[in-house]
Amino acid sequence: MVVVMLPRRLFSAFLQASRRLATSPTTDGGYPKTEGAWPDDRWRSFLLPSRAHFASNCNTVVASRLQERTLIAVKPDGVQRRLVGEIIQRFEQRGFKLVGMKLIKASEDLLREHYIDLKRKPFYPSLIQYMNSGPIVVMVWEGYNVVKTSRLMVGATDPAEALPGTIRGDFGMHISRNVIHASDSVEVADREIGLWFSSIEMTDWECCTQSNIYSG
Ligand code: PPS
Repeated sequence: MVVVMLPRRLFSAFLQASRRLATSPTTDGGYPKTEGAWPDDRWRSFLLPSRAHFASNCNTVVASRLQERTLIAVKPDGVQRRLVGEIIQRFEQRGFKLVGMKLIKASEDLLREHYIDLKRKPFYPSLIQYMNSGPIVVMVWEGYNVVKTSRLMVGATDPAEALPGTIRGDFGMHISRNVIHASDSVEVADREIGLWFSSIEMTDWECCTQSNIYSG
């Protein structure tokens, strides 16, 4: 074990500074107010990032989460059962912004790529066959925490376990026909959006109800 011996004056300055830091009031996001609290402001700037730097990082994080995107697909059973309008309405009502949408009959190659992580599952061939059996509506929705929130709105994979009020809980019966797909993480959403949409197929637009949906 290495014991570091500090000169007494340095140690007491350090102790005094840490006490002031611990007891000083905090402002935005818990960043400590320390101006004038330190024996020497040069210490503060050496040890802590500036408040402006901290605030700008927070804003970047918040802004990027407002613009989080996810891929939602109404599966062939959902299209056949005329559930597309109902599903779009749920996402609109929640406050999310539609930035891409198309009705397509997906090729087997595209579906195999989309479900590549499941290729060893026993249901993989039947899943590909079913997804290829008719048109699907693929959409990109944008908004704060959209990946997590849309998974909650969609409900459990097996409709038998999905809660009432969720899309699968309200419209699904069997796991092999569960109406809708939603990306399960931000990373997966990025990959899936890139697979299904080119950048010119998506539209950035200003939402005039932004301040009614989010503060500020
Ligand atoms: S798993 O087994 O844990 O990987 O399954 P899960 O992550 O819940 O679901 C992955 C996708 O596989 C679909 N799935 C099925 N399709 C047909 N038959 C059966 N038995 C089955 N089990 C799971 C499930 O709906 C998921 O598809 P998406 O399109 O992502 O909803």
